[in-house]
Amino acid sequence: MELREFAERVLLSPSLEAKLERVGTAFTDEQPGEAVRVSEPVRPDNLQFAPRRTAPGMPHPDTFADPARRALAHHIMANHELQALEVMAWVLLAFPEAPTEFRLGVAEVMRDEQRHTKMHAERAASLGLAFGERPVNCYIWKKALEFANVLDYLAGLPLTFEGRNLDHTLEFERYFLAVGDAKSAAIMRHIHRDEIEHVRFGYEWLRRLKPAEASEWETYLAHLKWPLRPDKGIGDDFQVESRRQAGLPDEFIGHLCRTAKAYGPAESGKSGENSLTSSERAGESMVDPADNSN
Ligand SMILES: [Fe+2]
Ligand SMILES: [Fe+2]
Repeated sequence: MELREFAERVLLSPSLEAKLERVGTAFTDEQPGEAVRVSEPVRPDNLQFAPRRTAPGMPHPDTFADPARRALAHHIMANHELQALEVMAWVLLAFPEAPTEFRLGVAEVMRDEQRHTKMHAERAASLGLAFGERPVNCYIWKKALEFANVLDYLAGLPLTFEGRNLDHTLEFERYFLAVGDAKSAAIMRHIHRDEIEHVRFGYEWLRRLKPAEASEWETYLAHLKWPLRPDKGIGDDFQVESRRQAGLPDEFIGHLCRTAKAYGPAESGKSGENSLTSSERAGESMVDPADNSN
């Protein structure tokens, strides 16, 4: 399937099933076409972006003994995954001149994002909440509209949102295990493993596309668009080893660590300590620091 056709299906189809339909063939990029910047994804009626401050925020992990609160958490995370998928489709349409190898790589990541959306949506449904029953926000999508080039995208999505998800996936695995929900925990571990590869992809292309005279860290900083900052790329339980597995050099991780220390009391690489503070902050921020203020 041609990348443009795939991107248009994900972005412009009103059917969730069509957006998430797995492509069983290899991708090709023979006709990337003209650059198009889509202002809003087409979505089914029950997944339209909600007005500012009307989508529910992430439930506090201390409430996760209640299946309804866990269902809402999966509902919110399904919408994060769907937005990531839509942003990647937006990138394919907005930057047809980007290297073919990069564009094909984005499409492979999109296969994972389709699967992640389904996993969260199905888990929410099995806990009693159908995807689309609650309002959803547009926080991640709104950030994409500020990407003027591929480096802006790499700094914003793979290295900030997906980078932070390296931490949040394992934090949520811990929260779900604490209430005996092994199925929800397994989803977070699965997504964590995929996210390592997504961050690897982002860093690798940042390295390849950056100006020769600038370091990777300088390039990352230069392409972050306000209000995204380095501290938005870290969670509470800073996962050093996952970042190493993603190919981030220790120098880059060190910059992130220093940001983490400036940001709050969670200690790098440690998990489960300061759990009340950690949980409270994760409950507020999760993948999306403005979850109910889109
Ligand atoms: Fe994902
Ligand atoms: Fe991802």
